Amino acid sequence: MAILRLPGLIDVHVHLREPGGEQKEDLTSGSAAALAGGVTMLLDMPNTHPPLVDAQTFDHKFALIGRKALCDVGLYVGATETNALQAAALAPRAVGLKIYLDQTYGPLRMRDLTAMLSHFRDWPEERPIAVHAEGLSMAMAIGLARIFGKRLHLCHVSRADEMALIRAAKGSGMQLTCEVTPHHLFLTEADARRLGPYGSMKPPLASEADRNALWRHLDLIDCIATDHAPHTHAEKRGEEPPPGVPGLETMLPLLWTAVSEGRLTEERLVELTHHNPKRIFHLPIQPETWVELDPRVQAVLSEETLHTRCHWTPFEGMRVRGQVRRVVLRGQTVFEDGRVRAEPGVGRAIQPE
Ligand code: NCD
Ligand code: ZN
Ligand code: ZN
Ligand code: ZN
Repeated sequence: MAILRLPGLIDVHVHLREPGGEQKEDLTSGSAAALAGGVTMLLDMPNTHPPLVDAQTFDHKFALIGRKALCDVGLYVGATETNALQAAALAPRAVGLKIYLDQTYGPLRMRDLTAMLSHFRDWPEERPIAVHAEGLSMAMAIGLARIFGKRLHLCHVSRADEMALIRAAKGSGMQLTCEVTPHHLFLTEADARRLGPYGSMKPPLASEADRNALWRHLDLIDCIATDHAPHTHAEKRGEEPPPGVPGLETMLPLLWTAVSEGRLTEERLVELTHHNPKRIFHLPIQPETWVELDPRVQAVLSEETLHTRCHWTPFEGMRVRGQVRRVVLRGQTVFEDGRVRAEPGVGRAIQPE
């Protein structure tokens, strides 16, 4: 098989950590990791320090992208208990509203029903509301989206019961979308025990039955997104290790391995990592942008080759097939043979169309 050309991957769930978490990752290191993984556009989460919850914090980050990013970056605005109107005012420039309904990393947990009603009323109906919602919280978010007629996007679905809920919701005719992560597709709670804090994330790695349900219901899944959530070695080895694992550089080799094993088709891979993200979040076209993948190369995933600042991976030691050889963004070679060739300024801050 010759070198394959895929469209630039679009990762709709990434934590670049800037501002306030630059020891874990920043716009430049995180977008370097993206390019190394064949990701040319990513959507960045608002749970930074301070969080992106108003025009001031949003504009600050938006301007930083143009100065520091190596790939294109779109921004979510985060929901708080008091910012429904400010968030809705940012809807033309944000790729979506992000609501955290369960405890996870960062300050943005939503606990107030009045605030939830305001967000679901005020946010424009054609734009996605992305939720971190596990189990029963997911059913609650679906209920609100149904009542208010809003476009709901479910982040990192991880369990069989959640897949059953999504099947029922989609079957009822709702316009609902969801993503799964590579770690929930390729790892289980057995790996979590082996990896300790390096295998801890929200939602946690689940049972083999849960993982199998994700593969079996791949037809109900709209996107594969990394939830790239880097934390430093020191943080992971500390008293209260924060949840989250990096994933930008390992997604495509893992998925291509599944293609080579006949568990996924190349066409479906491109749908899940490019066409569906672009359609769901109304993202702009990147002209003359592609990824060259050598489908034959076999490799062992290793921290040694990574560009992410955190410099570790929960997939350490896994055998994969398929290697990113070159990435071209707007006609320019931005990654080739293991080396990032882009300079800060190549990436653009993007807005939905
Ligand atoms: C994420 C993080 O570290 O920002 N952690 C995680 O375990 N997934 C937060 C999140 O996406 O829930
Ligand atoms: Zn989350
Ligand atoms: Zn996340
Ligand atoms: Zn397309």
